[in-house]
Amino acid sequence: MTAIETETFLEYILVEHRWIIVMVALLPISLIWKIWSTFRNYVVFKLNSAPKMHIKKVKEVQSQVKAWLAGDRSTRLCTARPGWQAMSFRQGIYKKTFTNIKVNLVDVLEVDMENMTVRCEPLVTMGQLSRTLEPLGLALAVVPELDQLTVGGLVMGTGVESSSHIYGLFQHFCLQYELVLADGSVVTCSKDENPDLFYAVPWSYGTLGFLTSAVIKVVPAKKYIRLEYRPYNKLSELSHHFIEESLKDKPHEFIEALLFTKNSGVLMTGNMVDKIGDDGKFNPIGKWYAEWFFKQVERHLTNNRTAVEYIPLRDYYHRHTRSFFWELQDIIPFGNHPIFRYLLGWLMPPEVSLLKLTQPEAVTKLYDKAHVIQDMLVPVEHLEKAIDVFHDEFEVYPIWLCPFRVFNHPGQLKIKTNADSQMFVDIGVYGVPKAKGYETVPSTRRIEAFVSKHDGFQMLYADTYTTREEFRAMFDHTLYDKVRDSLPYCKDAFPEIYGKVNRNVRK
Ligand SMILES: Cc1cc2nc3c(=O)[nH]c(=O)nc-3n(C[C@H](O)[C@H](O)[C@H](O)COP(=O)(O)OP(=O)(O)OC[C@H]3O[C@@H](n4cnc5c(N)ncnc54)[C@H](O)[C@@H]3O)c2cc1C
Ligand SMILES: *[C@@H]1O[C@H](CO)[C@@H](O)[C@H](O)[C@H]1NC(C)=O
Ligand SMILES: *[C@@H]1O[C@H](CO)[C@@H](O)[C@H](O)[C@H]1NC(C)=O
Repeated sequence: MTAIETETFLEYILVEHRWIIVMVALLPISLIWKIWSTFRNYVVFKLNSAPKMHIKKVKEVQSQVKAWLAGDRSTRLCTARPGWQAMSFRQGIYKKTFTNIKVNLVDVLEVDMENMTVRCEPLVTMGQLSRTLEPLGLALAVVPELDQLTVGGLVMGTGVESSSHIYGLFQHFCLQYELVLADGSVVTCSKDENPDLFYAVPWSYGTLGFLTSAVIKVVPAKKYIRLEYRPYNKLSELSHHFIEESLKDKPHEFIEALLFTKNSGVLMTGNMVDKIGDDGKFNPIGKWYAEWFFKQVERHLTNNRTAVEYIPLRDYYHRHTRSFFWELQDIIPFGNHPIFRYLLGWLMPPEVSLLKLTQPEAVTKLYDKAHVIQDMLVPVEHLEKAIDVFHDEFEVYPIWLCPFRVFNHPGQLKIKTNADSQMFVDIGVYGVPKAKGYETVPSTRRIEAFVSKHDGFQMLYADTYTTREEFRAMFDHTLYDKVRDSLPYCKDAFPEIYGKVNRNVRK
């Protein structure tokens, strides 16, 4: 074979049979990486060496920013974390031209059992955190799904999961942030100390400063979740019960729903318990040989009966991790086959970062044309209407539905009511659109217009086709602009949020 033939052949394998690369290379490397990082984190936490190293590591961030400050400041700043390492599908093109600041902060610093908080560095992942907290009988108030999501990404973007109807988004149960600002200083902020900065940090996407630690609220945890599955064959009924459960005075601790078609889905409500009751069976869904969770949920729909199960707590928290919700079925089509699961399931899932690193241009183009990854956040009363519109424009199933509360705080996520809080629903659409006439840009723009018109928000990690004006209308920039004006060198160092998330600066 000539070089060109070899190259086309490799490209062909990468695009058409990506699973081969995933199996032969990615899964084993991912496993070694997982074992090493779990071991390392355990040792650092046990030796309690992280807090001492923290001060030194923050100084290193400061000295890099100060070096930029001493120069001509002709470039802007961003973290040095390569785009392929982040969970979001897109990579920022700006990483190449901005000055990259190494923020190598990966440790859990302290668990405060008295005040029920955990202090951690920004690159701590959700998997690492739930593993650290579980033996102490604790859990984060909300554990965003997917092991590899980081504290930094969730603080600067957002985090939502099935207990968010009680505790809100990630920002609502973070109590303090420590940041290195563009002038090289270190500040801490909370609702009482530098409150403007504190409320502007969430959804700022790294455009105010570098996060170096966060103090986050934890809650007592129990061993299992008692999860009740209720199937529905009518959207209006599912929607009605979903809203009713979310708004109850004493709601279940966990609420989520999956839609499998426009009119059928399963509502799941759960509570923490210490013992397995006799009204349901024990189901360790996190075991390597277990069937993908969304497939198990679908069976409750086929059975058309209410069912109860008892699931180990961490298995529940990371229930969608092994199949990345349902994204993995497109990459490893036979990943849920019993033979594969029993033989090789323990290798799953591959590291998202490695998947992205080995993704050829051709696959990215394919995703551009025929793949949707979006979370749209709308006030919960618009749920049914939103599903109608999403069905017409995308027709992607399953759809993830998760209720969450937005507290009436200052900042970019301004709600249009005077009440203390407002209930929203996260509508997660991940997959290949089947709607007739689907075209990436016009279809997404129509969805964005719907979301804006109904006082909703688009998640920052997803592709946005809004103009700067539309984006600034969706997110209230009043406090954000004020904070940027007041912080020395902030506007020299960082673009606006839109400057980091619009489609032109991402590939
Ligand atoms: C398949 C899929 C499923 C998802 N599921 C969920 C879900 O269930 N729940 C949920 O809440 N979200 C979910 N998300 C979205 C997720 O919340 C965002 O991607 C989020 O921003 C976290 O990503 P990350 O940890 O990889 O952070 P990154 O993408 O690395 O960071 C996001 C931004 O934050 C900034 N940032 C990060 N660290 C720092 C720092 N130390 N200082 C300054 N700025 C910083 C960076 O500038 C970056 O632009 C999902 C995303 C995908 C692709
Ligand atoms: C708990 O919080 C209080 C008030 O914020 C503080 O004074 C105290 O030092 C904290 N306890 C610990 C162990 O840090
Ligand atoms: C599901 O069960 C209900 C009764 O519990 C019944 O009314 C309905 O027709 C069933 N739906 C399907 C699709 O079997």
